[in-house]
Amino acid sequence: MQYLEATRRLYTAAAQTPDDQLCCVSTPPWRMPDLQIPDIMHEMNYGCGTTVHPRDIPDDAPVLYIGVGGGLELLQFASLARRDGGVIGVDNVPEMLEACSANLEQARELNDWLTPRAVQLRAGDALQLPVEDDTVGLVAQNCLFNIFREEELDQALREAHRVLRPGGALSLSDPISPRPIPPHLQADDRLRALCLSGALPLEGYLARIVAVGFGTIEIRGRRPYRILDKERFGLDEHLLLESVEVVAYKTPVPEDGPCIFTGRTAIWFGEAQSFDDGKGHVLRRDVPAPVCDKTAAALDALGLEHLIVTESTWHYDGGGCC
Ligand SMILES: C[S@@+](CC[C@H](N)C(=O)[O-])C[C@H]1O[C@@H](n2cnc3c(N)ncnc32)[C@H](O)[C@@H]1O
Repeated sequence: MQYLEATRRLYTAAAQTPDDQLCCVSTPPWRMPDLQIPDIMHEMNYGCGTTVHPRDIPDDAPVLYIGVGGGLELLQFASLARRDGGVIGVDNVPEMLEACSANLEQARELNDWLTPRAVQLRAGDALQLPVEDDTVGLVAQNCLFNIFREEELDQALREAHRVLRPGGALSLSDPISPRPIPPHLQADDRLRALCLSGALPLEGYLARIVAVGFGTIEIRGRRPYRILDKERFGLDEHLLLESVEVVAYKTPVPEDGPCIFTGRTAIWFGEAQSFDDGKGHVLRRDVPAPVCDKTAAALDALGLEHLIVTESTWHYDGGGCC
């Protein structure tokens, strides 16, 4: 397909000549204890947001990272996993794999703990992963899936689901759009490869993740990403793209729909020490309880004077029940 070829060409060039302007975010240099990151990895940071959240690291199954770029997030995952075979990186651009391998070599000079077998690089495609079924604890991708058209996006999500063991997690960081991106921009292969015109509205993006079988979803972060301004991009109105960090779990999708945590909280402040909704949610008085959107809506609908349900913060950090 022509746009996939255009994507390969763009990232071949980005592997050969690092371009710190290629991706459109300026993130502060990531610091972790006992981790030195070579400058070249920052220059080749072609992602938005992060997929690296320490609490997701599996102890007994590898992390699979799709679309390696300069290796920054591979190194961060390796630093957290700290074991041989802890991280596998897959990319379909040979030059990117070579650059990433050279960058990891530099990282080994700076970090004694980084063994040659901590990260294994494999040539392969997100649409046909070179990985066995049900073997991976965490799959991560940053700023790749948004490039795909919907058919390929569904295929990439099915592949991530296939290789994850039950209960495993898919960590994604991608741009999203407040409304569908107009067809003339979607059809621009270069803008798409630059992560500027393939973004979906959040609801559509999440619906596709659920459709392949991820039953629990957490929104870990959401922030401004880029303006597509009406003059340069031929639009009626400016379009503010955001980036979103999502972690989706390979758990069965409940009959009444997925559990999607967007940072909503329920707080009971009535006379009783706790409030029980009879559906498995017991709220202790005055203690904010993170709840998924389905439960938030059900609790809100009760219309109780001493129960408030807060809006989405788009920053969920665990501790909730569905
Ligand atoms: C936007 S860059 C992101 C790189 C890296 N994730 C980061 O955050 O810096 C996209 C990466 O995906 C790779 N890539 C593009 N198409 C791919 C595909 N179909 N399968 C696997 N990797 C692909 C590119 O070579 C590049 O390394």
